[in-house]
Amino acid sequence: MGRPRLVVFSGAGVSAESGLKTFRDADGLWEEYRIEDVATPDAWRRDPAKVLHFYDLRRAQVLAAQPNAAHRAIAGLERWFHVDVVTQNIDDLHERAGSSRVLHLHGEILLARSTADASVVVPINGPTLRLGDRCPLGSQLRPHIVWFGEQVPMMDRAAELVQQADILVVVGTSLQVYPAASLVHHLSRKADMHLVDPQDPPADMGRATHWKQKAVEGVPALADHLMRISGTPPRGAS
Ligand code: APR
Repeated sequence: MGRPRLVVFSGAGVSAESGLKTFRDADGLWEEYRIEDVATPDAWRRDPAKVLHFYDLRRAQVLAAQPNAAHRAIAGLERWFHVDVVTQNIDDLHERAGSSRVLHLHGEILLARSTADASVVVPINGPTLRLGDRCPLGSQLRPHIVWFGEQVPMMDRAAELVQQADILVVVGTSLQVYPAASLVHHLSRKADMHLVDPQDPPADMGRATHWKQKAVEGVPALADHLMRISGTPPRGAS
């Protein structure tokens, strides 16, 4: 028998203690900016420089940030479980902590893509993406981010992973943004669900065990618990 399958579904809260702001908390990014000014296709058409500046700030912060104890505990779960991380985050902190399979539902801040062909994706060297920065096809590059009103191309794959999971760990997301938030409804009835968040979850999350803590405390504690009950020896143990 293979290892139990565990999916981590993460949001901005997992990176909060790495110094990256969440969106909807009291001092969150959507208090400071209007979504329709910086994170929609219309905003990009109206004022691309403003949109680029918003994401340049995000990128500079990500480059300066370090993974925290929650990212590391999630990476450590791979010794006991087959782990897939499905994240709404655009930072690369799960990868830098050592997670090997990370699916980014809402894009990646360190990548840019062509405005002529969405399949042309390139790394951004350094913190800024400028008007005039062109893709190999010659068109303007845009941030590789899924904006409000755009399709979420990785959604089907993410739903498939959640469907196959024996355990789902939801961490640091307000579950306000769809379709991402609907992922939890793809979990099979016999699977276990855990939620790590200092705030109470939406009412329909009643079946989840709630670890009402910050990610840096709750995720390592939950990881310890899951390792103890996993019933499988850690990978690499003789
Ligand atoms: N540890 C764990 N959770 C935390 C912490 C922390 N230290 N601090 C805050 N949180 C929780 C909040 O209680 C909230 O439930 O993280 C959640 C953050 O919610 P949002 O700001 O709405 O972030 P998220 O759910 O990731 O947003 C989804 O919205 O704007 C878009 O595209 C953006 O991917 C993002 C999407």
